[in-house]
Amino acid sequence: MHEPPKVPLARVLVNMPRMMVNPIKRFNRYLGEYGRDFILSVGGSRRTHFTVNADVIQHVLQKNHKNYHKSAIQTDELARYLGRGLLTNNGQPWLTQRRLIQPGFHRQRLEALVSEMQAVINTSCKGLNQTAEENGRIHLQEVTRDIVFRVITRAIFTDGFDDAETRKLKKTLDAIQRYVVYPVRMPFLLKPLQWLGIEGRKLALTQDVRKRVQERIDARRAGVPKDDLLQMLLDSRYEDDGQPMPDQQLVDEIIILFAAGHETSANALAWTIWLLLRHPETLAKARAEITEVEGEGAINFDNARQLIYLTQVIEESMRLYPPAWITDRVALGPDKAGGFDIQQGTSIGIFFYGLHRNPEYWEDPEAFRPERMTPEAKKARHPFCFLPFGGGPRLCIGNHFAMLEMQLILARLLKDYNFELPAKADLVKQKAYITLHMDRPLSLRLSRRAANLPSAKRV
Ligand code: HEM
Repeated sequence: MHEPPKVPLARVLVNMPRMMVNPIKRFNRYLGEYGRDFILSVGGSRRTHFTVNADVIQHVLQKNHKNYHKSAIQTDELARYLGRGLLTNNGQPWLTQRRLIQPGFHRQRLEALVSEMQAVINTSCKGLNQTAEENGRIHLQEVTRDIVFRVITRAIFTDGFDDAETRKLKKTLDAIQRYVVYPVRMPFLLKPLQWLGIEGRKLALTQDVRKRVQERIDARRAGVPKDDLLQMLLDSRYEDDGQPMPDQQLVDEIIILFAAGHETSANALAWTIWLLLRHPETLAKARAEITEVEGEGAINFDNARQLIYLTQVIEESMRLYPPAWITDRVALGPDKAGGFDIQQGTSIGIFFYGLHRNPEYWEDPEAFRPERMTPEAKKARHPFCFLPFGGGPRLCIGNHFAMLEMQLILARLLKDYNFELPAKADLVKQKAYITLHMDRPLSLRLSRRAANLPSAKRV
C-alpha cells in the first residue's frame, strides 16, 4: 500500500481549534511539513487524502470521476438548506439534471442575457455616480455583491423581482449562506443550534425563498415566455420520457443557481479590484484595453472576447484568491491516483487555494502576474494546476456566465471611476467561509474619472 504521509492524530486534535478558525493557514502548514499529499484522519471518522497534486486531482475529477462522489457535507447537509440541485446532487440524478440544464449555459445562449446584464450594471452605477460626485466612500464587497446579485436575479427572471423584492431575496439568501457554514463545517454545533431554535428559523427562511420562487414560476406560466434562465428550465424536457422538470426540482435548481452564482463572482470581483488598485501599471494597461475595445459603444457579447488582458487579470486574481477554495470527493471503490493507493471510503480534499500556489507549477507563486495567463503559458502548464471553476464533468456550469458578467462589470467600473485605497489596504487577508472572502470590509473613496466624464450621459 503506497499512501501519503499521515499527520499524527495527536497533532490533528491539538490543532483542531486553529483549523476551525483559519483552515487555509493550517493546511498550508501541513503542506510545508508533509508535502503535496498527506492524510488527515480523526479517530473513527473518515480519512481524508488532502492534495495539491495536479495528477491526483485530474485523476479524481476527470480520468476516473465515476469512482468519486461529493461527500455528504456537500450534498445531503447543504441540500437541507439549498435543496437538491446540480451542486448538491450525485450520480445518475446529477447527470440527468446536468444534461438537461447544460444547453442553457452554452456561451452562445448567453448573448441574449448581455443587454439584461448591462441594464442592471447601468442601474447600479446610478447609485455609484452620486457617491462619486460627492467623493464619498463605498464598501467594495457590498457593491460587488449587490451588482452580482442583481445580475443573477435578472438573468433568471428577466420579468420578475423589482428592486425591493430583489433586496429582500438577497438578504434572506445571504443570511442562509452565512449560517450554513456553522452546521456544515462544525456538525457538533447542529444540536445546540436546533435547541436554540436558530436552525428552525433558518429553515423557515429557506421555505420563504422557495415560496417566492414558486410564485414567480406560476406567474411566468400564466404570462408570456421570455429569453432567460427560468424559461430555459421551464422549456427543457428529459431525454427519456420527454417530461418537463417537476416544480420542486425547478425550485431547487433555481435556488442553487442563486447560491452558486452570486457570492463566488462577487468575491472574485472584489479581489480583482483590490489587486488592480495595488498594481497601478496593471490597472493602467487594463483600462487602456477597455477604452480601445469599447470604442464609441459599450462592451457587448462579441467585443467582450477582445478583453484579453482583462481576462488574464481576472484569471490571475482567481489563481491567488479562488472563490471556491476547496472541494471534496469520496472514493466509492479502491483506486490508484498519482501513484498513491486510495482506499474505498477515503475522502479526497482538493485544496484549490494550495494548488494555485504550488511552486511546482507556479514560479514565484505569491506574485500577481496576469502575464502568466496567456494561452501559450497555459498550454505549457499541467492542465489541472489552475482550476478556479473546477474540472472534469462537474466543471462549473456557470463559468462562461461568470466570466462574461465579471468582464462587463469590471470594464464599466474601471472605466468610469477612480477608487482610492485606504492606508491599511495591504493588510487585507483571506477568510475562508464556504467561499473565499476578505477578512475585513474594504472602504474605498470613489470619484469619477475625468477621462470618462462623457460616458456619464449613458447612465
Ligand atoms: C467566479 C465565479 C464562480 C466560480 C469561481 C465558481 C466555481 C465553481 C467550482 C469550483 C465548481 C465545481 C465544484 C466541484 O467540482 O466540487 C462550481 C460548480 C457549479 N457552479 Fe460555479 N462558480 C462561479 C460562478 C457560477 C455561476 C455564475 C453559476 C450560475 C449561474 C454557477 C453555478 C454552478 C453550479 C450549478 C455548479 C455545480 C455544477 C455541477 O456539479 O454539475 N457558478 N462552480
